[in-house]
Amino acid sequence: MVNICCIGAGYVGGPSSAVIAYQCHDVNVTIVDLNQARIDAWNSDKLPIYEPGLEEIVFSRRGKNLFFSTDVDQAIIDADLIFVSVNTPTKKSGMGAGMAADLAYIETATRRIAQVATTSKVVIEKSTVPCRTAQSMRTILEANSNKDIRFDILSNPEFLAEGTAISDLTKPDRVLIGCLQTPEGFAAQKKLVDIYTRWIPQERVITMNLWSSELSKLAANALLAQRISSINALSAICEATGADVDEVAYACGTDSRIGPKFLKASVGFGGSCFQKDILNLVYLSEQLFLPEVAAYWKSVVTMNEYQKMRFTHRIVRTLFNTVTHKRIALLGFAFKKDTGDTRESAAITLCSYLIQEHAHIAIYDPKVSAKQIKMDLTEPGVGTNEETVDKHVEVCESAYEACAGADALVICTEWDEFKMNQLDYQKIFDSMQKPAFIFDGRLILDGPKLREIGFRVETIGKSV
Ligand code: NAI
Repeated sequence: MVNICCIGAGYVGGPSSAVIAYQCHDVNVTIVDLNQARIDAWNSDKLPIYEPGLEEIVFSRRGKNLFFSTDVDQAIIDADLIFVSVNTPTKKSGMGAGMAADLAYIETATRRIAQVATTSKVVIEKSTVPCRTAQSMRTILEANSNKDIRFDILSNPEFLAEGTAISDLTKPDRVLIGCLQTPEGFAAQKKLVDIYTRWIPQERVITMNLWSSELSKLAANALLAQRISSINALSAICEATGADVDEVAYACGTDSRIGPKFLKASVGFGGSCFQKDILNLVYLSEQLFLPEVAAYWKSVVTMNEYQKMRFTHRIVRTLFNTVTHKRIALLGFAFKKDTGDTRESAAITLCSYLIQEHAHIAIYDPKVSAKQIKMDLTEPGVGTNEETVDKHVEVCESAYEACAGADALVICTEWDEFKMNQLDYQKIFDSMQKPAFIFDGRLILDGPKLREIGFRVETIGKSV
C-alpha cells in the first residue's frame, strides 16, 4: 500500500488529495494541517470549504483510505510521497513586500520533513512557488538529513479552479510533473505518474524539467488574468463608444486562434491566486534585471484595479454623484460563484470605496458568512475599521432582504441564484426606492427585461 501525506488542508490540499483517495482505494492518503479547527471541520459533517461534489468524495472515503489529522510528524514518517500544499501568500513586509511570495510556510514544512523523516521520501511541491524554489527545498532537505535517507523533489503545480475543483481534478486538461533530469529524478517522477494515470489518460500527464514546471504555473495564471484584463480594458472602450463587450468577446472568442474562455468582462478578477502569482512573476522579472518584462505583467494587475475603481465611480456618478446614506444592495461577496472563498474578492474593494463615500451597504452572499465579510472588511489595507464597518455594513439572509428599501442593487458575484429566472426582479423592484438602479458587474442579467420592469440598468461594457 502506498502512503501519501499532504501537508496543508486548504482549498488545494483538501480536494486534490481527497480525489487521489477516491480514485485509488489502495493508496492511503493523510491530509495534515497545523490548524486544529480546519482539521476538525474536515472530520465533521460541515467541511471547511464549499466545493460542488466535494462532500460526496470526502464522505465516501473518509476513515477508509482518507484521513485528516494534526499529527504532521506521524504522517511524514509513514509517507512514501509527501505533497507540500501550504499557502504561499504575497509577502507583507521586508524584501519584496507586496510582490514576492512568502515562502516561510514552505520552508517550515520542508524543515519538518527533514527533521522527522526516517526513510526516503519523494517530496512534491504542489503549492504555487517562484521558479527555482525546489532548489531551496532540496538544499534544506539535504542539509538536514542523514546519508541513509534520500529526498527527491518533484514539481506538480495544481491547476484546479475553485468552484469546479472536483471536475478539474477528475478530468484535468493536463497534469504537470517536473523533475530533475537525473535517473533518480525520473524514478521519482514515475512514482507520481503511476498514481495519476490510474484515472487520467497518459497523454495528459506531462513530464518536464523542474523549472519549466514551476514557471508554467505562474505563466498559466498570468495568461489567464491577462485575458480578463484585456477584455476589461475593451469594456471601457465599449462603454464610451456604444459597442457591446459581450458581442466583442463573442466575435473574438469564435476565432479558433483566440478561443472563448476567460473573455467575460466583469468588475475585475479576484481570488487568492491571480494577483499574487502575477506579482510573483513581476518580482522574479525584476530580480532577473528584466524591468520591461516586469512592467508588462504588472499592467495586468493595474488594469484590474482600474476596473474596480471605474465600476465604483460609475455607481456613484449614476446615483447623482452621491451615495451618502443611500442603501446599496450588494449581491455576492465571494470572488466568484460556487465558492465561499473571498480572498482578493472585487467586492471587498467595492465596499471599501463605497464606505468611504458613506453609503450603507446591505450584503448577501449564499456561501459567505457575516463573520467572514466583517473580517475581510476590517483587514489591514482595506482602509476601514470595525466601528465603520458596523455602522455602514449590514449582512442579510437573502437577496430580497438586502434589496428592500435599497436605492441600487449591485451584482458582484455571478451566482446562478441571482439570474433572471431565479430571482423575482419585479418583487425586488417593488421593494426598492425609486428610481431603482441595477449595476450588473458580471453581465448576468437581461438589461431590456429589467428596463421593462422599470429599473435603470448600468452594465459593464455596455453604454445602455
Ligand atoms: P490555504 O490557505 O487554503 O491552505 C493552506 C493550508 O496550509 C492552511 O490550512 C495552513 O494552516 C496550512 N499550513 C501552512 N503551513 C503549514 C505547515 N508548516 N504544516 C502544516 N500545515 C500548514 O491555501 P490554498 O488556497 O490551498 O493554496 C495552497 C497553495 O496552492 C498556494 O501556493 C496557492 O497559490 C496554490 N494554489 C491555489 C489554488 C486555489 O484555487 N486556491 C489553485 C492552485 C494553486
